[in-house]
Amino acid sequence: MYLSEFFIPRPGRLVVAPLLLLLATACSASTEGREASATKADTTPHESHDEEADAMRELLRLQPGDVVADVGAGDGDWTEDLAAYVGESGIVWATEVDPDLVDELKDLAKDHPQIRPVLGDQDKTGLTENCCDAILLRLVYHHFTDPTVMRADLHRALRPDARLLVVEITPQRGWRELDGVPERGGHGISMARLIEEMESDGFRAVERLEEWGDEEDEFAVVFVATTE
Ligand SMILES: C[S@@+](CC[C@H](N)C(=O)[O-])C[C@H]1O[C@@H](n2cnc3c(N)ncnc32)[C@H](O)[C@@H]1O
Repeated sequence: MYLSEFFIPRPGRLVVAPLLLLLATACSASTEGREASATKADTTPHESHDEEADAMRELLRLQPGDVVADVGAGDGDWTEDLAAYVGESGIVWATEVDPDLVDELKDLAKDHPQIRPVLGDQDKTGLTENCCDAILLRLVYHHFTDPTVMRADLHRALRPDARLLVVEITPQRGWRELDGVPERGGHGISMARLIEEMESDGFRAVERLEEWGDEEDEFAVVFVATTE
């Protein structure tokens, strides 16, 4: 996660994390879509990077050999975990709009050939139609300057029965403003607004986790693409 996002430095957030842990409640999770058993993701927030990554894998129903996309992958912090889960027989499309970050993803791909960096822009992800068994959007949706276009592109990229995990943060008034994004009351998006936007455009929320990572106010929603 990027420190430039926040005015709260990471040590401060580490202090908050144990408090959030005490507040953790079991969240309900349906098991639509790709096959899976009950998950650790049912209990949030997560104490560590590895726990969060495991929860992502479970929510995305990732299997070795799968094709997954990490849209807005940043410097590849989570891309590497996805690569480990799908293995060398799988593919991780790691998209970014920042060319410097694409270069970092290319460096990462030297050690993990299943990682395929892609330069996208605010009009397209760079993913091909029907490419993916699963897509991760971690703290990226609220950066989209044209979410309608990006939703259509993501919808096209999902295979039937594929899952899209969106990790987000409720609007934070003190954080930096993002140029060109829709006004949603601060840096971030509420769960209700996210679901409203997605469900107005061919997606259906199948799992909702009110608490997620070590950031206060983080949440996660799993979507599937509807066909009608
Ligand atoms: C807060 S960072 C999150 C990075 C990473 N997903 C993580 O959780 O560490 C948001 C990233 O989304 C990227 N981004 C913004 N709009 C995008 C778009 N339309 N397509 C792909 N990436 C985008 C930004 O360049 C930035 O690296």
